Amino acid sequence: MSADGFSGGPPPGAAADWTIAQGWNGYTTEEHSTWLTLYDRQMAVLPGRACNAFLHGLDALDLRGEGVPDFTRISERLQALTGWSVVAVPGLIPDDVFFDHLASRRFPAGNFIRKPHELDYLKEPDVFHDVFGHVPMLTDPVFADYMAAYGRGGARALQLGRLHNLARLYWYTVEFGLMQSAAGLRIYGAGIVSSRTESVFSLEDGSPNRIAFDLQRVMRTPYRIDDFQQTYFVIPSMDELLDVTQHDFGALYTALAGAKDIAITDLAPGDRVITRGHQEYAASRAPAQLV
Ligand code: PHE
Ligand code: FE
Repeated sequence: MSADGFSGGPPPGAAADWTIAQGWNGYTTEEHSTWLTLYDRQMAVLPGRACNAFLHGLDALDLRGEGVPDFTRISERLQALTGWSVVAVPGLIPDDVFFDHLASRRFPAGNFIRKPHELDYLKEPDVFHDVFGHVPMLTDPVFADYMAAYGRGGARALQLGRLHNLARLYWYTVEFGLMQSAAGLRIYGAGIVSSRTESVFSLEDGSPNRIAFDLQRVMRTPYRIDDFQQTYFVIPSMDELLDVTQHDFGALYTALAGAKDIAITDLAPGDRVITRGHQEYAASRAPAQLV
């Protein structure tokens, strides 16, 4: 993940591209067992909910292993499959640095792991979110191309001042995306597959809207980072997501400059609604903090 608002360069000990050594030998027994606990908790809910590409990715990378994965080991396998690798970073990094890594097929992952008392929620993405959540999909050749293209597109959106629109695409696909499969709706978004509660909520709860993916519609929809999503977007397949994002976004950005945002609870003309949510969950919680 990335964030703006950085001033100055990388922290002491980090390289110019913000990477650090993973320090795999430094993980404690407790930290390895936190990984295994989180892994096993997710696997109690993900079969039949996560998409096949994700579940295959877990196996292809042997991601349960014996604890926190060694980035060198998983990068070797990932390189052979799709040309991607995983590099360690201290936490959130500047947008331009993040895009540059993605465009070069390097996924920046936090090397720290959450503490046993914060298994269910933490603010900054840790190694479990970044590696368990994101890396399995990078074994899928189509998703792997999508992420690299997103990195190139990010640099452009920054120059054009439309990053807020492009960031919504990342949020509603890479982080919180659902997809259609012959067997029904499935999860591919990293923010969902790394959360035990949202894995169930996103597919089965009556509260959120589930709407067929539309590029412009997604780019007009803000998102919340403080609680479960109130709207999920469903892609027909990874191939179709890659297809609709391949053209130049220049004209789209121009059109978006004059378009209003769509509230996270609202349906818009032209929406193909898969489930209309009653939003009772969100109504029972603190008001959304929108990004
Ligand atoms: N086609 C986009 C552009 O012209 C780049 C992009 C590809 C963005 C895939 C996101 C995902 O900016
Ligand atoms: Fe993430």
